[in-house]
Amino acid sequence: MKVLVVGGGGREHALVWKIAGSPRVSKVWCAPGNPGISECAECVPIGSNDINSLLAFAKENRADLTVVGPEAPLAAGIVDSFKRAGLRVFGPTKEAASLESSKAFAKDFCKRYGIPCGASETFSDAAAAKAYAAGGSLPVVVKADGLAAGKGVIICKSVAEAEAAIDEMLVSRSMGDAGRRVVVEEFLEGEEASFIAVCDGNHVLPLASSQDHKAAFDGDRGPNTGGMGAVSPAKVVTGDVARAVMERIMLPVARGMVTEGMPFVGALYAGLMIKDGEPRVLEFNARFGDPETQPLMVRMKNDLVDVLEAAVTGTLDRVELEWDTRPAACVVMASGGYPGAYEKGKVIGGLADAAALADVVVFHAGTRRAGDEIVTDGGRVLGVTALGVDMKSAIGRAYEAVSKISWEGVHCRKDIGHRAV
Ligand code: AMP
Ligand code: GLY
Repeated sequence: MKVLVVGGGGREHALVWKIAGSPRVSKVWCAPGNPGISECAECVPIGSNDINSLLAFAKENRADLTVVGPEAPLAAGIVDSFKRAGLRVFGPTKEAASLESSKAFAKDFCKRYGIPCGASETFSDAAAAKAYAAGGSLPVVVKADGLAAGKGVIICKSVAEAEAAIDEMLVSRSMGDAGRRVVVEEFLEGEEASFIAVCDGNHVLPLASSQDHKAAFDGDRGPNTGGMGAVSPAKVVTGDVARAVMERIMLPVARGMVTEGMPFVGALYAGLMIKDGEPRVLEFNARFGDPETQPLMVRMKNDLVDVLEAAVTGTLDRVELEWDTRPAACVVMASGGYPGAYEKGKVIGGLADAAALADVVVFHAGTRRAGDEIVTDGGRVLGVTALGVDMKSAIGRAYEAVSKISWEGVHCRKDIGHRAV
């Protein structure tokens, strides 16, 4: 069969790498892809938000399955367009993607179905939002309702900070329409983990647990990023915690979405805060995590195409997942300055040496080809991923590969996986 993957980051490289390994697949395209992806798929120069061109390409080339990586095309209705055209596509409809694209929707949904999360209210009026923030305990969390590329959450230690965050979003509109409404939420303590499941509308098939590191600097300091590294499994997600997450969060979400007339098909990602074994939801994503997908794909033993196809055809109850018992770690190598301003176009050295190490895969995110060289082209540049007999050796192996790669101004965290050993 022929598969089209939409996106061009580290997550999509991991998905394409896995799909290309399927004996059932004769052709993989990736739009727009990146130089790493071009080693295992044909990259097509169509942007991931250009739904009309993606649809025309899939029709013309008779793609048997399209897999959508990023949230923006999902929120813009790519799945609805493909389905209307009679094409098979993995991902939620625009309506179902509201679990990610509207935090207000997600919070109201959790309240309707008794899904554990922090107390919150949604506001479009700044004075009312400020009064609510001032009336609760500190810190307090102010969130833009819409998609904000990981920059829509502000943890405020004082009422003054909360007022400033509310004004930024609702009055100055610094986040555009994403900040037309804000959610003011209780601050939750504990340890974070990512719980990702593949859903077919009625069935929820949990993947192995994973954990990312959102802060830019070691010790979880500095600004939040899209994720500076990830591991699988996450130690905090014990068997009991995983069962609690399924019973109290994932299955109620799937059932609730059916009740609301928008069954969820695709990857459902619950960002969790876990304290004393009790999971609560921080956010939902309607897609695979990035970089969590990188360690997950190197550990998955199933043919991913079987899993995605079962999700699209409503037969996930017949799939049983198998995982490499070895843990995996992914260290993100980023451009110096990320998530703030950074320079692009730096020549990357050592890629082949790193990739030659056993049980190492160097996934590309923000890279570009320039003549014979591969150069940096984004904030998160590479996701250096390794398996090991235990977590410590997976992490050691990933950092050994990282040490072979360099460019001017490269930045990575040195403590990825510290909570998992
Ligand atoms: P979100 O996009 O909602 O996951 O928020 C991004 C990050 O902000 C999360 O990964 C947490 O580190 C932090 N965060 C969000 N909501 C809360 C909360 N209610 N309490 C504590 N931290 C939070
Ligand atoms: N790693 C966090 C995310 O994918 O949103």
